[in-house]
Amino acid sequence: MKHLFRKLALAAMLMAAPSLMMAANNKPGTFTTGDKTFLLNGQPFVVKAAEVHYPRIPRPYWEHRIQMCKALGMNAVCIYIFWNIHEQQEGQFDFTGNNDVAEFCRLAQKNGMYVIVRPGPYVCAEWEMGGLPWWLLKKKDIRLRERDPYFMERVKIFEQKVGEQLSGLTLQNGGPIIMIQVENEYGSYGEDKPYVSEIRDCLRGIYDQAPPTAPVGASIDGKSNVAPSGAEGGASVLLFQCDWSSNFTKNGLDDLVWTMNFGTGANINDQFRRLGELRPNAPKMCSEFWSGWFDKWGARHETRPAKDMVEGMDEMLSKGISFSLYMTHGGTSFGHWAGANSPGFAPDVTSYDYDAPINEYGLATPKFWELRKMMEKYDERGFPLSGGRKGGLPAVPKAPMPIITVPKFELKEFAPFYRNQHLIPSVNPQTFEEMDLGWGMTYYVTALPEVPVQSTLTLEAHDYAQVFIDDVYIGKIDRVKNEKSLTLPPVKKGQKLAILVEAMGRINFGRAIKDFKGIVGDVVINAEADEYGNEAAWTLKKWTMTPISDDYAKAVKAFDANKIERPLSDGFAKRENGRGYYRGYFNLKKVGDTFLNFETWGKGQVYVNGHAMGRIWSIGPQQTLYIPGCWLKKGKNEIIVLDVVGPKEAVVWGQAEPELNKLQLEKSNKHNNIGDKPDLNSATPVSTGAFKAGNGWQTIKFNGQKKGRYLAIECLSTQKAGDRVAIAEIYLQGADGKRLSREPWKTKYANSEDEGGNHLGDKVFDLQESTYWQTEKGASAPHLLVIDLGSEQTVSAFEYLPRAEQGAPGSVKNFKIYLY
Ligand code: GLA
Ligand code: CA
Repeated sequence: MKHLFRKLALAAMLMAAPSLMMAANNKPGTFTTGDKTFLLNGQPFVVKAAEVHYPRIPRPYWEHRIQMCKALGMNAVCIYIFWNIHEQQEGQFDFTGNNDVAEFCRLAQKNGMYVIVRPGPYVCAEWEMGGLPWWLLKKKDIRLRERDPYFMERVKIFEQKVGEQLSGLTLQNGGPIIMIQVENEYGSYGEDKPYVSEIRDCLRGIYDQAPPTAPVGASIDGKSNVAPSGAEGGASVLLFQCDWSSNFTKNGLDDLVWTMNFGTGANINDQFRRLGELRPNAPKMCSEFWSGWFDKWGARHETRPAKDMVEGMDEMLSKGISFSLYMTHGGTSFGHWAGANSPGFAPDVTSYDYDAPINEYGLATPKFWELRKMMEKYDERGFPLSGGRKGGLPAVPKAPMPIITVPKFELKEFAPFYRNQHLIPSVNPQTFEEMDLGWGMTYYVTALPEVPVQSTLTLEAHDYAQVFIDDVYIGKIDRVKNEKSLTLPPVKKGQKLAILVEAMGRINFGRAIKDFKGIVGDVVINAEADEYGNEAAWTLKKWTMTPISDDYAKAVKAFDANKIERPLSDGFAKRENGRGYYRGYFNLKKVGDTFLNFETWGKGQVYVNGHAMGRIWSIGPQQTLYIPGCWLKKGKNEIIVLDVVGPKEAVVWGQAEPELNKLQLEKSNKHNNIGDKPDLNSATPVSTGAFKAGNGWQTIKFNGQKKGRYLAIECLSTQKAGDRVAIAEIYLQGADGKRLSREPWKTKYANSEDEGGNHLGDKVFDLQESTYWQTEKGASAPHLLVIDLGSEQTVSAFEYLPRAEQGAPGSVKNFKIYLY
């Protein structure tokens, strides 16, 4: 009843409101906060934003994608600014071509869409280093996202440059930009209000012509309930922060708008409960409503149900809650721009399809149509159309290009990696950053000592190392699999040891974003004990290194220097173990979008007509790369594949549909090796009890302090009988009551894991509250999950988070916790 009344009141207000959509005109306006709502030129406004990323869309398709978002009923686009694509080398800025973000904003405005800008400096986004430039790491001890003087200096220069592009495009200046975000989810990185304040002040200085004069908002103690507002008179652009409902108070600044991020299926009232308590009169906004999820190499393609997404958005709109749908159109992480997640190292695939309503190549999915149907009930300002009316959404635009196929063809030219050039001598192996290499790979070469027995080679390789003795392949050390060593055969003094290290994306989330590439630290050989029990160890010195950047120009140079025809039949490639560059050509009568298939290839990168298309890796799940037709031409097209592993067959074909879900793994990712299962029959649990029902964190304090290297959680029953067990996150508290670092954690054993849905055991410590461990359908309790903490730990409490969805499906009731 109350609800209905509110709707009527809103409808009445709207009828009185002056003409609506003004994003397309160039009149200056204001965007502020009012009582439980945003105000556009003083009138209530619900933001329906579509998150899209301009570098993930070829520029010729920008306008089409914006129009697709508009056809979904969105009234704004939300964009990150990716620092590292604009400043690839320190001090050299590029805002042209595909980096022309001002033009992207103008196109949005032309199409009647407002713009929300999230200029970082950190953006996360499954993007290399979360958007931070790699060259920051040349200062080895830099404190990223903190008040490190060098970091802050570079941040301010960058933000200034972005400001030169965008500050004239704020609503106050007649442009489309209504809101600007300060930092990004800082609560999942740390607690540092002075740092966040400095970013705020920096942005305010750039985007405001006048300091804000409006009353500041409620403080964390909740005494005042006035929401922060843009300056009266409209001189000030509205600044906001986004975080999770579980941690937004950590860095929440009094004078910024607070918004929450959460995914499809989440319990929406629950997500805004704390905000409502602290700032009862503030507008509510979900600044990232996750439509789907991102994919990682070696794991299944992620999807999320359309129904949950649509219902969640409908619920928000019916309550006047603003949102940004992350992603509405994900696009592609071209070139080497895909990032990686941690703990551990989980690099993201090239496709950023995200199971979003508009797919990677810009077309409407079934999710799109379901969403559009729901969005038709609301007007441009986000309010219900009166009398249950529907319709009025613009027509869905035609795709800019048809989809074409390309018959199978062979890449007949081969060139070995361009080695023995720019050799860098060094006593110890250097990281890429020390060698001034941003992306690519490096050959590390040294001479071996005499080791007459088998030995173990140990090193920390970021990210994929292949080891050769006198050019014969010995094995690999793969960071994704947490590998750190391999066995060497007996060797003679002076034999050549070569290690080819290929870097993947730098980690984009959590403290691990300080992710140096190449060999990090010493390379050590440990020889097995001889018949007398003597052991020996060597730290290898006197290296020469050849850095090889992964750009197109470097590939072309390699062919100019040394080109071989028909590599696989000729034996040369064999001598190179098939590793190198492959070049081929295909002819087109008609240009269009296509999906080139690389499932016969090893691992590396692809360039088409000079455009860096992205990474490939046989393990999948992604086996095709999206090739936009706007980068193809009639007649002859060139393709180069850089393969660090070597292909089975050097062939490629273009298909009409992407393949995003085909794994080619050596073995399954499950942790059900029976030898790893502990015998808990005679063990005494450190805690036994029952969790409460419902969403949100719960803490179980132990009776005193307990020690152990392994944590075993036995789930005896679920809150709702018959549910599959699911746990979203787990923390342990140390002796001091603080959370232990989960960096070294690994899943040791799980008796049941839903691998198809990517709900493996490590999801309980992947820092993401929206991902979870889940047991298989029909598997019966009790369920056991064992985590290796890396070393013995002293533990005083256990923190547990069930799934974020309404009713916390799969939440555990009776449990036993062991440490051993
Ligand atoms: C967070 C970040 C985004 C993105 C999503 C996951 O919400 O803010 O940049 O990384 O997670 O896709
Ligand atoms: Ca998780």
